[in-house]
Amino acid sequence: MKNNKIPNPDFENVIPLLIGVWRRFHKLSGPSDVLQTREFRQVVELVQKLRLGLEESDKLVGEDYFQDSELLGAYLLYQWVIHYQQGLTLINEVPFTPKRVLDLCSGPGAFSFAALRLGAREVIAVDRNQKALEMAASICGRYGLPLAIRKHSVLKMPLPVEGKFDLIIVGHCLTELFPDTKAEWPKHQRDWINHLINMLTPHGQVLFVESSLKHANKRMLILRDQLVKEGIPIQAPCVWKGECVALQANSQCYAQRELEKPYLIKEIQRAAQINLGSLKMSYLIIRNPAAGWPQLPPLRLYRVISPPIDTQTGQRFFLCGIDGKKTLGSHLTKLPKEAAAFDYLKRGELISVEAVLEKQNNFDIVIGTRIKVESAVGKPLPEIETEYV
Ligand SMILES: C[S@@+](CC[C@H](N)C(=O)[O-])C[C@H]1O[C@@H](n2cnc3c(N)ncnc32)[C@H](O)[C@@H]1O
Repeated sequence: MKNNKIPNPDFENVIPLLIGVWRRFHKLSGPSDVLQTREFRQVVELVQKLRLGLEESDKLVGEDYFQDSELLGAYLLYQWVIHYQQGLTLINEVPFTPKRVLDLCSGPGAFSFAALRLGAREVIAVDRNQKALEMAASICGRYGLPLAIRKHSVLKMPLPVEGKFDLIIVGHCLTELFPDTKAEWPKHQRDWINHLINMLTPHGQVLFVESSLKHANKRMLILRDQLVKEGIPIQAPCVWKGECVALQANSQCYAQRELEKPYLIKEIQRAAQINLGSLKMSYLIIRNPAAGWPQLPPLRLYRVISPPIDTQTGQRFFLCGIDGKKTLGSHLTKLPKEAAAFDYLKRGELISVEAVLEKQNNFDIVIGTRIKVESAVGKPLPEIETEYV
């Protein structure tokens, strides 16, 4: 049975470790737990450049931007910390502890480190950039976790690895590997994903993560629809097996989770005027088609896909579940005890609802309604006993 607890990110030890690796990498002396004023100013400028070049535009896309050691160093002190937290919460949704993991386009290894901290025994990081890989190995090694690294372009198949993997991670690189400007990119992306599926163990899974920005999110939803249509089962976040309702409505659907902000991150955000209060990301976990869709208990299950939205009749949540998109709210001034979970619902939770009043796609809590959280945020689905070996 999987231990579902997400480990503490341990920033007390991880942040000094990152600063230490950053100092060694730049051959700088100085304190191991803080940046000096001039260093800090420079890191802030570079973090802004990375955000502009990779997230808000595609200026850096197509370049081997980590050849610039300064950019790589700044990535380690900011984006790495955010992506590591994404890794902890998302990899934890895999319904078993993945033992053999492949982290593609790993960069300095934020997702590799998260996989190792979640109990992976063997993680192989692949990237085209040797310096980023060495940094990844150095971070994991200093924490006492072994990481294997391979320099290779992930577009060139076969990859320099052997055997099958329980989990393949594709973190923040799909748009870089398959830019919209390249002819027939959706086909190339799809063919590439097929290669990955062929490298999975019978219950193996692939985790895709991108930013929550509109364009990256839309690409993820389109990919999800394409895969579902072709019979590739989804582990998370969707329990709905039809076409994506958000995509049809031209709206977004992404995850939002708690973000822990160590002092360094708070300071960089303040100085770089980054307004990011929570972890926001687009993600998709697919299963080896041989494993089929997850076997869920016979309940009316829905994923909470929005924060509470104020409406004329009080707060409502958007849900997406076994029979599509719904909203959930109540006209009651006091909720029945069995539906009290409504007051504490969080985006990302999987809930079951019983005995709601249904008006088209709107659910109202009435006397007798029961609402139960079946999977907390960052926890696997409540599958009927399945042997994951
Ligand atoms: C935005 S970084 C993401 C790094 C890491 N996955 C993360 O989420 O923190 C993208 C990474 O993709 C790598 N990359 C881009 N194209 C690649 C290719 N064709 N083969 C291997 N690595 C590639 C870059 O070197 C960079 O490390």
